[in-house]
Amino acid sequence: MSMSIRRLAYGLGAEVLGVDPAGEIGAATLGQLVKAWEDHQVLVFRGVEWSLGQQVAFSRRFGELELHPLKYLRNPDCPEVFEVTNRLVNGKPSETGEVGRMWHSDGAYTVKPPTASFLHCRQIPESGGTTWFCNMYLAYERLSATMQGIVDQLEVVNDLFGSGKTTAFISGRDANKAGEESAVNPPVVQPMVRVHPGTGRKALFLNPAATRRVLGMNEDESDALLKLLFQQCTKPEIVYCHYWRPNDLVMWDNRCTNHLAPKDYDGSQIRQMFRTTLVGEPHGRYLAEPAGMAVGA
Ligand code: OGA
Ligand code: MN
Repeated sequence: MSMSIRRLAYGLGAEVLGVDPAGEIGAATLGQLVKAWEDHQVLVFRGVEWSLGQQVAFSRRFGELELHPLKYLRNPDCPEVFEVTNRLVNGKPSETGEVGRMWHSDGAYTVKPPTASFLHCRQIPESGGTTWFCNMYLAYERLSATMQGIVDQLEVVNDLFGSGKTTAFISGRDANKAGEESAVNPPVVQPMVRVHPGTGRKALFLNPAATRRVLGMNEDESDALLKLLFQQCTKPEIVYCHYWRPNDLVMWDNRCTNHLAPKDYDGSQIRQMFRTTLVGEPHGRYLAEPAGMAVGA
């Protein structure tokens, strides 16, 4: 069967039919997938039954894989894999149970934000457990030319603890661990607008989980502008909501989308996902140059 594409929403997202990510993918099909990904930003495959190793192998076809910057989140058997779950892990509450509760793009608090992420669903509560995506090209393109001219010039300060609530990743982490995480992930400065190297289109690059402020603005100015832009990014017309089924694979481009995982399910039911992540291109710089430190080491 040859590959076909079914759009899932106006703003972004498409289902890929006729390709099994667990099977052999030839160069021609890979090229078609890359093109579809550029066209739709989020690709969905259904019924993908595979091992973590197969997920790693499929993801690698699109680029080099990153190890999660927070070491304790790497899967002990397969370090390229990061488990997002509310299940008990080694008898303790999972560290990743609250991942994604605010709109974000992955690793936006680093100077090499990951290009893309692949999330595979193993288990999902009987209802909810959705993931939402928004199209950051459209968020930019739907601004007035005057506002585009302003945001083109701006930079944001992004931080793992951007919101001050540590909600980007972690809830209920002890102060020592949070301190270590801050130390290896110091604040970064990034252009607010990003040109996608594949499509040449401009996208807004900011999010309420990581973005602390607009560089060079006072607090009132920065708060007001960020509020306006965060609203701009999540208008319903440019959002796709994914209702998971077990064995769905969803792959998204972090350079032109943000995503959100609301707590829209019964927490006593298990939700279990596995993520692989592509290493990104450099974007931005440290706010203060750290002394002799290797991020992600
Ligand atoms: C992630 C993430 C959302 C989800 O893995 O990067 O934000 O729905 N997950 O689990
Ligand atoms: Mn995420």
